[in-house]
Amino acid sequence: MEKKRPEDNKVHASCESSDTCSAKENEEQEQGRLEQRLFHIRHKIMVMSGKGGVGKSTVSVNLAASLASQGYEVGILDADIHGPDIPRMCGVEKRAVTGHKGGLAPIRVFKGLKVISMGLLSQDPDKAIVWRGPMKHNAIRQFIGDVNWGDLDYLVIDLPPGTGDEPLSVAHLIKDVDGAIIVTTPQDVALLDSRKAVNFSKLLNIPVLGIVENMSGMACPHCGEKIDLFKIGGGARAARELRVPYLGHINIDPKMVIRCDAGTPFVVDPEPSAVKRAFERLAQSVITATQTSGIEAFVAAV
Ligand SMILES: Nc1ncnc2c1ncn2[C@@H]1O[C@H](COP(=O)(O)OP(=O)(O)OP(=O)(O)O)[C@@H](O)[C@H]1O
Ligand SMILES: [Mg+2]
Repeated sequence: MEKKRPEDNKVHASCESSDTCSAKENEEQEQGRLEQRLFHIRHKIMVMSGKGGVGKSTVSVNLAASLASQGYEVGILDADIHGPDIPRMCGVEKRAVTGHKGGLAPIRVFKGLKVISMGLLSQDPDKAIVWRGPMKHNAIRQFIGDVNWGDLDYLVIDLPPGTGDEPLSVAHLIKDVDGAIIVTTPQDVALLDSRKAVNFSKLLNIPVLGIVENMSGMACPHCGEKIDLFKIGGGARAARELRVPYLGHINIDPKMVIRCDAGTPFVVDPEPSAVKRAFERLAQSVITATQTSGIEAFVAAV
C-alpha cells in the first residue's frame, strides 16, 4: 500500500527555535519531525519478551545484521534506556554520536547497519539512568524524530523486558509497527511471561510476527550430545496455544557470548553453524512476513 507523505505544514513555519515557540507549537513541530522520519522507514519490528535476559538484544543485533548483509538498509533503535546493550554487542560503544542540522547521525556498524542508543549518548557508561516514564518517552521520541536515519528498509527496535513504559511509548509513537517478535527461553516461567508479551501486543493491535525460542538446548562441546539445559519445545507449544507463528529455535552456543562481548554479530561469522542458520531463517521469516506474503497472510498461515 502506498504510504501517505506527512504534511509539511505540521512543522510550524513561524516557530524556529524552542525558546520562541509555545508548548503547542513545539509539540506540533516534534510530531511533524517524527512523521517525516517514519515516512522514510518501510518496516518497523519490535523485539520484546516478558522476562529479562532471554536474548532479545542478541536476537535484535543478529536479525538486523542478517538483514543488512542481504543488502537491506537497517537501523537498530535501542529502546532499552536503563540497560542499553546494543553498542557493546555491535562493537561501537566507544564511538560518539555527532549532530548537525539534519539531526543526530546514527553510528554506522558496517554497510547497511546503523544504531542509536542511550549508551552512545551518555558520557559515563557506569552512570545509572534514573528516569520515569515521560522522560523515557521523550528519549524514544528523539531517537526517532531527531535522528537522521535516512531511508531504511527495516528499523529493529530492541526493548527492555516486560510490558512497561518503553514498549508502550514505541507503540504510541509508531502507529504502524509491522510486528513484534517475542523472544523466550523454553522453561515454564519464561513462557508464562512471554504469554503476557503476546497479549500486550494484541491489546495494542500490534501483529505478533511470532515466538522465537532462544537458549534451546546445546551440543556438548566434548561429545556433541544434545543437552536440554532449560528444556526444549516450550516456545513452539506457547505459539500453538496462543495461535501465533513459531519462528524457530536458537541453540545455546558458548561462542555467542564471546561474540556478543567482543562486539561482532554472530551472523557475520564466516563459519557455518546451527545458530547462524537459525538467525538467517528468522531474517527470512521477517522478509516473507513484511514483503512477500504480508503480515496478515503470514500470521494466518499458522
Ligand atoms: N543462544 C545463546 N547462546 C549463548 N549465549 C546466549 C544466547 N543468547 C543470548 N546469549 C547470551 O545471554 C546473555 C543475555 O542476552 P541478551 O543481553 O541478548 O538478553 P536480553 O533479553 O536482551 O537481556 P535484557 O532483558 O537484560 O535486555 C548475553 O551475554 C548473550 O551473549
Ligand atoms: Mg537487552
